[in-house]
Amino acid sequence: MKRPYAALTGTGYSVPRHVMTNDDFAAIGIDTSHQWIFERSGIVQRHIARDGESTCSMGADAARKAMAKAGITSAEIDAIILSTATPDRLLPSTAVDIQAALGATRATAFDLSAACSGWLYGLTVAEGLIAAGTIETALVIGSEKMSAITDWQDRSTAVLFGDGAGAAIVRRGDGKRGILSAFMRSDGALAELLWRPSGGAAHPFSLPVLEDRSSYVKMAGREVFKHAVRMMAEACDRALDGARLTGKDIDLLIPHQANIRIIEATAKHANVPMDKVYVNVNRFGNTSSASIGIALDEAITSGRVRTGDTVLLCAFGAGFTWGSMVVRL
Ligand SMILES: CC(C)(COP(=O)(O)OP(=O)(O)OC[C@H]1O[C@@H](n2cnc3c(N)ncnc32)[C@H](O)[C@@H]1OP(=O)(O)O)[C@@H](O)C(=O)NCCC(=O)NCCS
Repeated sequence: MKRPYAALTGTGYSVPRHVMTNDDFAAIGIDTSHQWIFERSGIVQRHIARDGESTCSMGADAARKAMAKAGITSAEIDAIILSTATPDRLLPSTAVDIQAALGATRATAFDLSAACSGWLYGLTVAEGLIAAGTIETALVIGSEKMSAITDWQDRSTAVLFGDGAGAAIVRRGDGKRGILSAFMRSDGALAELLWRPSGGAAHPFSLPVLEDRSSYVKMAGREVFKHAVRMMAEACDRALDGARLTGKDIDLLIPHQANIRIIEATAKHANVPMDKVYVNVNRFGNTSSASIGIALDEAITSGRVRTGDTVLLCAFGAGFTWGSMVVRL
């Protein structure tokens, strides 16, 4: 049997109701400006979770919408794979909370940690489980409450991230639609360019950790930018080669939404014109592993892509991790 083994049969997304614009940073004492943020990142606003909104609640909401569009009930789900860098707690996984919220009692559920590339990693794991015959139906979610790990005193990172969740149902396909290629890669030697130094088992929470703010996201922005452009280019090449396609065959490129300049460089490298590139970083900021799922669902719901279209998905993130996928919808 050859690819496609598995198809994306329904998508959904969820973001918190509260919107924070670039101008709102002044009110919390951050010295920045709309012009600085917009020129460097393309971001205008982001959604930020408020009381009661969590990685679980956003993930479960996105999942319900994806199930409705796929026309399935939670009883049909065999596996729930949650990509998150912001689990609601460290033990047990947030995936099991989503399982309980959905009543998906037949499923196995686990978290997957690959930062912003995690949703593509999750789809690839689901595809493998389906190809092996282990499962028939997976729910793959990227849900991130980035506002919980952002240092709201650090203007170099606080302005970039947003909260949200994207989800897809992945099922054994009909042999025509589905995942045509997938690529994943990591480089742990670069881990400290984008990381949370403390708060895990090596350096657990303590008073000094709280005081030195080392449990929040730290990022070497310029270095990350350089590697991101290189990794996104490689990711596109590998997924296109795997599917024996070129940029000209792609109906829509959906890159991870971190920064408009990285998106533009990726599109140029992949030879996809910007009118065939999905951009919503202006409205959501960087929602980490939720970003591609949110964008894909918006693209499908708005009619920007239709059944039979070919999309190229690519991502990079902390780790570093990077990955890509060509999907026939
Ligand atoms: C973070 C990023 C937008 C910064 O842009 P940049 O062009 O590299 O920034 P610059 O180096 O020109 O500017 C840094 C200066 O702006 C200042 N600055 C940082 N954040 C600022 C903000 N929000 N508002 C105003 N000034 C800010 C810094 O203090 C620094 O000032 P200095 O030169 O006086 O020390 C950019 O590096 C980037 O997008 N990197 C990739 C990040 C990313 O995608 N991360 C997610 C990975 S999944």
